[in-house]
Amino acid sequence: MTARTGPGRSPKSLFLACDLQAPGAEAAARAALRRLSPDDQERVARLHRPADRTRSVLARWLALQAAGRLLDVPWAGLQLGRHRDGRPYVKTQPRLFLSMAHSGRYAVAAAALGARVGVDVEEISRVSVLPDSAFLTPAEISALPSAGPAAEHRAALWVLKEAAMKLTGEGMRAGMKRVDFRRRGEPRVPFSAHTPYTVGEFNVCRLLGGYVCAVGVSAGAPPTTPTVLAVGPRTRMETERTDFSVRPLQEHGSPEPDGTTGRHDTASPAAHRAEQDVEVEEADSHIWLSVN
Ligand SMILES: CC(C)(COP(=O)(O)OP(=O)(O)OC[C@H]1O[C@@H](n2cnc3c(N)ncnc32)[C@H](O)[C@@H]1OP(=O)(O)O)[C@@H](O)C(=O)NCCC(=O)NCCS
Repeated sequence: MTARTGPGRSPKSLFLACDLQAPGAEAAARAALRRLSPDDQERVARLHRPADRTRSVLARWLALQAAGRLLDVPWAGLQLGRHRDGRPYVKTQPRLFLSMAHSGRYAVAAAALGARVGVDVEEISRVSVLPDSAFLTPAEISALPSAGPAAEHRAALWVLKEAAMKLTGEGMRAGMKRVDFRRRGEPRVPFSAHTPYTVGEFNVCRLLGGYVCAVGVSAGAPPTTPTVLAVGPRTRMETERTDFSVRPLQEHGSPEPDGTTGRHDTASPAAHRAEQDVEVEEADSHIWLSVN
């Protein structure tokens, strides 16, 4: 397997997301589960809630997809490992770095060649219930916008901090208030940011349905938004091949907060037929991957 970056080139990275509310997400997760390593299958099986299992499988699948695309190899030939600190990695690919997150209706993952990477996703309303003092530094509090977008901004800081703590591998052990983020530009999501906590550049953006997500890389420029992958219609066909390639559904470049720009081309009749194929194929398997 060959990496395409050479000496002197800027590190490459890829940021992918999957919407669990999109048609076919559960079927795709069932199909992807069978391609994960026994170790990952066991880890997923230990999760109690069906929705957690779906999110977890899809995050791993996205991580492998991102890795496969960067390395230009079929994802199904790659295997995930887990460092002692919890960071995921691809076995036999020491120059490739991975990060995953899952929350609510989204699974996200990013891969980077020759640079560390960290991602996070969260629902804005879940961060709104936390007091400033739980996770923001005094400098961050004083830089919050005073009016409308404050809730979104606070959630943006949350995901940025988690992304940074995953990039270093420290996780929550780092302490939210040790990770002080400085925004570049206007106090409006999407924006770029950096932190003295670790070297690297970070971007934060919105996802449909009231979510924000962040990605950071230790070298080079991070992606500005994730590519949201459609998983439903071609699941059976694709799992029978080795590359399980999927089509980008849409870029979540600047969706409206009310979610009106979402468009799933899985709504076409052909897509529905293919979706039914998946359901028929999976009908006799144990259906535990329902999203609740
Ligand atoms: C990393 C961490 C911040 C993730 O928090 P979370 O909001 O619960 O979960 P997310 O969905 O955002 O991310 C989960 C993924 O992060 C990754 N991850 C776990 N630990 C990680 C670490 N130290 N560094 C980077 N990534 C890590 C894993 O891929 C995990 O996916 P999995 O649970 O499906 O295996 C948190 O698990 C953590 O801090 N772990 C460190 C271990 C620890 O000391 N925990 C005690 C909490 S004080």
